[in-house]
Amino acid sequence: MSEMNYHVFENAEQVVHALATSLQDYSEQGRPVHISLSGGSTPSQLFAYLAGSEFAQSIQWQNLHFWWGDERCVAPDDEQSNYGQAKALLFDHIAIPAENIHRIRGEDFAAMEAIRFAQEMSSEIPAKDGVPEFDWILLGMGTDGHTASLFPGQTDYNTTEIAAIAAHPETRQIRVTKTAHLLANAKRITYLVLGAGKASVVKEIADNAPAAQAYPAAQVSAKAGTTEWYLDSEAAKELA
Ligand code: 6PG
Repeated sequence: MSEMNYHVFENAEQVVHALATSLQDYSEQGRPVHISLSGGSTPSQLFAYLAGSEFAQSIQWQNLHFWWGDERCVAPDDEQSNYGQAKALLFDHIAIPAENIHRIRGEDFAAMEAIRFAQEMSSEIPAKDGVPEFDWILLGMGTDGHTASLFPGQTDYNTTEIAAIAAHPETRQIRVTKTAHLLANAKRITYLVLGAGKASVVKEIADNAPAAQAYPAAQVSAKAGTTEWYLDSEAAKELA
């Protein structure tokens, strides 16, 4: 893993303000910009901030296309749905064209949805080296070092597929996920990691500790683009 490029902010509000400013910049490029959102609970703070701030009106949402790094195989109105969370906290509060929201259909048969999802990315997103090239991919990290639904010990770093299915190692919940191959092709990857609960894993990755070799969040980076970590002071508290 290359040197960890991290940015530490005092608190979560400063982190989400920085991310919102990036979204504002992307929206002013006058072209379709493809952005992949992370799942789990962390991004809810970004969504709520965007919906409740001046960014709700100032961002040119019609230029932004939103995708997900992964989705749980549940209905879109299920509280577990990554799309459902973003819809309730953000999309229902802004003027964004429905066609700009590219959800993974968790209610559909997972193996078929992974194929459909891959086809949609391939048809909608400009490619580099034959692989869809996202402008910006936001990723979260679990306390076991997973990212998207790429889990330790079950991630295929050699696949040339761009979407796959995975099972959460503890809950066995089936997910559809972007693959390491797709993620690595992005122009920019930002790991959004907040809270003291992630501090020890962040340190292991920053120290390139032996344990981190098994962490997909340590192994997945933009091979030709920028990989960065946006941390609040709690998540960064074990760093020098
Ligand atoms: C998901 C994810 C997953 C998430 C991490 C962190 O669907 O759960 O995409 O990779 O980003 O598990 O989740 P928290 O933000 O809830 O800690």
